Amino acid sequence: MDPFHLHAGTAHCEELPLRVIAQEVGTPVYVYSTAAMRSNVRALQSALAGLDDPLIAYAVKANPNTAVLATLAAEGLGADIVSGGEYQRARAGGFPADKIVMSGVGKTTAEMALALNGGLFQFNLESLPEAEALSQVAVELGKTAPVAFRVNPDVAAGSHAKISTGGAHNKFGIPVAEAPAAFDRLKELPGLEIKGVAVHIGSQLTSLQPLEAAFARLGELIEALRSRGHSITTADLGGGLGVSYDPSIEAPPSAAEYAAMVSRVTRGWRVRLVFEPGRLIVGNAGVLLTEVIRVKNGPSHPFVVIDAAMNDLLRPTLYDAWHGIEAVVPRGQTMRADVVGPVCETGDCFAQARTIDRVEAGDLMMIRTVGAYAATMGSTYNSRPLTPEVLVDGDRWAVVRERQSIESMMAAEKIPQWVRR
Ligand code: LLP
Repeated sequence: MDPFHLHAGTAHCEELPLRVIAQEVGTPVYVYSTAAMRSNVRALQSALAGLDDPLIAYAVKANPNTAVLATLAAEGLGADIVSGGEYQRARAGGFPADKIVMSGVGKTTAEMALALNGGLFQFNLESLPEAEALSQVAVELGKTAPVAFRVNPDVAAGSHAKISTGGAHNKFGIPVAEAPAAFDRLKELPGLEIKGVAVHIGSQLTSLQPLEAAFARLGELIEALRSRGHSITTADLGGGLGVSYDPSIEAPPSAAEYAAMVSRVTRGWRVRLVFEPGRLIVGNAGVLLTEVIRVKNGPSHPFVVIDAAMNDLLRPTLYDAWHGIEAVVPRGQTMRADVVGPVCETGDCFAQARTIDRVEAGDLMMIRTVGAYAATMGSTYNSRPLTPEVLVDGDRWAVVRERQSIESMMAAEKIPQWVRR
């Protein structure tokens, strides 16, 4: 069931009327459904159940709120992290160290040391210089670093250019053709233990075909590496499966369809498969609750000016992303409008010439499918405080990130003595 549904004419998250949260916390505010996250996790777990002990490592970057992480850690997931900060969050959220995968194209030696000291499942290396740096850190710490190499399969992911990562011109991984020599070199480096291979070709993928092409290349590579004497025990297939944003467009393949393809393509690999889903787990589990500040006349249709803006939710501005926008208490009438935020940029626009529920100043609206890559990509542009976040579970709810205050925003800034007067 849709966790954000109408009940008695007013939108609820699970059993809680959204207006309660707006009244108590104010707007804009992100609201997350525990039930939605759990059901996404369980659908993926059961789809992958036929595989031999898969590791599902949630991509923390999608939604790194510690309450969200704790919810997902309790479901038995691991974590895919890309920075020292994400490592610390993953541990604080309760993910066991031996279920943490460290990805990222520019790991610093400090981040490597943090993860090595705290423990992890494996590092996904992105280049030979990075392997050399990790080898040195591991030797200095007297540790052995478990490593996989991320390869770039050179496939077109078919997603937005800014979130496609598997083309030869993208900065990620090493070319498949260079991988055998790179693994030979890895073997010579002290302090490293070769575990396997990794691939991630992009995000919000709506077709299985590019994923299948990438995985097939990975399978050939595993054979080639084994024939050179390398022991390959893990294969990380990354994340990337898309979710449905616009209900008028055909939904991306389901977790079950994805899993069926994976089990067909990886048959006989004799590895532990690792997955790094982010959006699939949390994407549909959040809404951004916002209030209409006013409705302003436009040349052909009105501007609905809401109190959420591009600093709260950047995806429409950055990727022209489409998000559903609905009234919390629909009147049963519609209007055609641009839905815009108050920030001083034309790009601060959530919908153009869209037919939406008819709204007036003071009405509440919700922007859908913002559980992933939303609050975490927020900024304080226009000196707008970071948006609070609320977690709902049934009829219980809690503020899991408080609204930032202007005072705390300015507290980190200093006016040098010579500027003071
Ligand atoms: N693994 C790696 C190495 C990644 O780089 C990513 C996402 C994931 C896993 C998780 O991908 P997912 O399953 O969530 O598609 N800000 C963009 C998305 C950026 C994705 C970055 N990497 C957006 O709002 O669409």
